Amino acid sequence: MEFARALLRWQRMYGRNDLPWQGTRDPYPVWLSEIMLQQTRVATVLSYYSRFLDRFPDVATLAGSPVESVLQAWAGLGYYARARLAHACAKAVVTEYGGTFPRSAAELAQLPGIGRSTAAAIAAFCFDERAAILDANVRRVLARRYAVEGDPAQRAVMDSLWTVAASLLPGSRDMPRYTQAIMDLGAGICTARKPRCDVCPVQDGCRAYRMGRVEDFPARRKASPRPVRSAHFLVALRGRHVLVEQRAADGIWGGLLGLPEHPEVRTLRRQARSLGALAPPMPLALRRHAFTHFTLAFTPHLVRLDPALHRAPPDGSLRWLALGEIEGAALPAPVLALLREVRDDAADAGSGLTGVR
Ligand code: ADE
Repeated sequence: MEFARALLRWQRMYGRNDLPWQGTRDPYPVWLSEIMLQQTRVATVLSYYSRFLDRFPDVATLAGSPVESVLQAWAGLGYYARARLAHACAKAVVTEYGGTFPRSAAELAQLPGIGRSTAAAIAAFCFDERAAILDANVRRVLARRYAVEGDPAQRAVMDSLWTVAASLLPGSRDMPRYTQAIMDLGAGICTARKPRCDVCPVQDGCRAYRMGRVEDFPARRKASPRPVRSAHFLVALRGRHVLVEQRAADGIWGGLLGLPEHPEVRTLRRQARSLGALAPPMPLALRRHAFTHFTLAFTPHLVRLDPALHRAPPDGSLRWLALGEIEGAALPAPVLALLREVRDDAADAGSGLTGVR
């Protein structure tokens, strides 16, 4: 109880108390925030969260919207499986629960995209349930305080962390603040690097601190280098339009728009020729984007097509997207960043030498 009491006192004074999803006990916005925050920092989520809620103000609206519109609102946040699962979850809440989220962590955890920790967070924040959360930040806090050896990726280590987490909970009326407190401690004090033990409210009783081994916990996974996958993207400009492709539902950036992707330059050049390019596309600097399990190293290849030729839109999953409309399109963040540069270069180049208009 000492641990919870110290955290609660600290949270009142130093914790985060004005995040937009904190002023409510409505599970819909709380659920949405927790899903967005699963792999994304608070600062990034802030700009998406309100826009998403404006567009999908309640669970029925979300459930009744096409998944493409959900992906579009999610574009840029990354980890798009979350958007698909969020949509599936909204549908399940409507069909299985008549549009009202269930109130227990056990039931919430049965819904698509809601794991045990997220279910506990929603149940604690909205319904005061005494359910423990255990996200990566909380794992670190508890592994340090109780000097839990071993890699939390191992089942037995994770099980003991869950047991510890459950043993520390305060009474139900303090659950919302306690849950926020332990998140805040992990995010701001008990950080992976350079933890602020000097101002930690639960430094007393921290076994890792006492041993002078704070940064040894939790045990780090053996670093296996992320494999690199390479790809070539065609940036075909026709006047102020760029050729985009609806990506397949499976695979990276599933369901989003993207640039035509090629494993080899040869097929990329062939596609450019088929679009009427007179010269081979010009390779731009290599870019990298880190996914969880691999790094994508991609080379964009720029080609400008004569707007007077090939007026017919390409068929199938390809279409011309106006450079002026890229901001609202369902583009993954690294592709949007690239196209912003292309758009701004095209604007700088004007209509003179390059023939772009
Ligand atoms: N990360 C996950 N959930 C969070 C929350 N409710 N507030 C701040 N950061 C979080």
